[in-house]
Amino acid sequence: MDIVFVSAEVAPWSKTGGLGDVVGSLPIALAARGHRVMVVAPRYLNGKSDDLYESAKDLHSPLTLDLGACGEQTVSFYHVHKLHVDFVFVDHPCYHRAGNPYGDEHGVFGDNQFRYALLSLAACEAPLTLNIGGYRSGEPPGFPYGDRCMFVANDWHAGLVPAYLAGRYRRNGVYKDARSVFAIHNLSHQGVEPASTYGNLGLPDDWYDPLSWRYPDWASINGPAVNILKGGVVASDRVVTVSQGYAWEITTAEGGWGLDGVLKERQHVLNGITNGIDMVEWDPSTDEFTAAHYNADDLSGKAECKAALQRELGFDVDPKKPLVGWIGRLDHQKGPDITLDSVPEMAARGCQFVMLGSGDANGDAKYEAQMREHEEHFKANYRGWVGFSIPVAHRIIAGCDVLLMPSRFEPCGLNQLFAMRYGTVPVAHATGGLRDTIQNFKEDAQGKERGTGWTFNPPDVPTMMRTMDHVLHVYHDKPQVWREVMRNGMGKDLSWNKAAKEYEQIFKWSRLDPAVRPW
Ligand code: GLC
Repeated sequence: MDIVFVSAEVAPWSKTGGLGDVVGSLPIALAARGHRVMVVAPRYLNGKSDDLYESAKDLHSPLTLDLGACGEQTVSFYHVHKLHVDFVFVDHPCYHRAGNPYGDEHGVFGDNQFRYALLSLAACEAPLTLNIGGYRSGEPPGFPYGDRCMFVANDWHAGLVPAYLAGRYRRNGVYKDARSVFAIHNLSHQGVEPASTYGNLGLPDDWYDPLSWRYPDWASINGPAVNILKGGVVASDRVVTVSQGYAWEITTAEGGWGLDGVLKERQHVLNGITNGIDMVEWDPSTDEFTAAHYNADDLSGKAECKAALQRELGFDVDPKKPLVGWIGRLDHQKGPDITLDSVPEMAARGCQFVMLGSGDANGDAKYEAQMREHEEHFKANYRGWVGFSIPVAHRIIAGCDVLLMPSRFEPCGLNQLFAMRYGTVPVAHATGGLRDTIQNFKEDAQGKERGTGWTFNPPDVPTMMRTMDHVLHVYHDKPQVWREVMRNGMGKDLSWNKAAKEYEQIFKWSRLDPAVRPW
């Protein structure tokens, strides 16, 4: 099968969160299963990490695209072939600016609708026009992907791909045999702009309805709008989310962010597939960033990693003190406020606590300020690290005893998977992918204690601390059982194998029943 992923992020080139990780590793797993796979993402030049793109070569295939009222736009394509995947980067001046993919210190970029419409349209053209690929056995190099491919459009940024396929291409007889899967990693960002921007998308007039949207009462913007994510849900052949729990949650009023009705209508083509992780990058027996190596049979290296992290953070180097970590974006979703409010209680229980927080999404730096205050007050027990660092993330995952994840909602969550692989016990809100992937510690009928971590609900400080009391009881008083919980997590198959097979199934289903195909 020829598969084309379209995404705003792809690690290691661009990443603000799990989306980048997934698009950087799932395509590789699918290629290893014999598919020809292309990933299309922007070529972000921000002046800081531009050298990441050095190995990607200009294909010298400039292309002029007609983007409605935004006029004709010329893009070029860069290409690198890595682990049997064609990574294609769309180049245009709108991707050349300081900051992260979506914004800078002044906030979100005002022209993101344009930037990602351009990405989506360029991605539709890439399989038709670029002479790359040909890695499928028996095919000559430079064999174009052609128009039978399977598009996987990720999150709102790629949400126009299904609409372009139907509204622009199929209508002209192209891509009649292509299919699209829309993958939702996070429903809370939908790409909503006033309806007056519809003309900028380069879609025919009769496509306005599938994209049109009126916010429910709770939202801050009123009036007619276009919602790109809604367009992706409505126009694609199949919809997937990154866990089964989340696939259900988004069809409810509580988890649907106003789109639960739309998603319910498409429930017959909606599935949840739990993400895997990159088992090579995240391997405690070979990790290049950690002080020592270990595996489930010999955990002594983990004790060394803990001591090294305690030293690095300036804590007492004491194997008996529970070391607790939190890693994530400083975003309400991830519960940084719950985490920060729990620090005095964690300290009172003798925990050492480290937070690695990146990008304050509110731009008001209130979480960062609280992190600094806690460092002042709880010198022996708390460290807060603002920014994102892959090596530090690895050292926290390896060195901590417990990883805290009080996310308010979590479509899948990857950190709990990394943690389990490293024998670090996740303690998380029972929501979405966290509930699906962490087996909550409890006694079974035979009185045997089982689990790979702890989950709690609701996500608030008292509930979390009650759970922590149980966690700390097992940690201090039942070291044998604690090691079992560690090993249970380490023994789980967290690779992409299972998910890759499930995606293949979805691809097959998308071809089975033309009746379920809306356009
Ligand atoms: C988003 C979600 C996260 C998920 C990731 C990858 O970042 O918030 O839960 O793990 O996408 O799918």
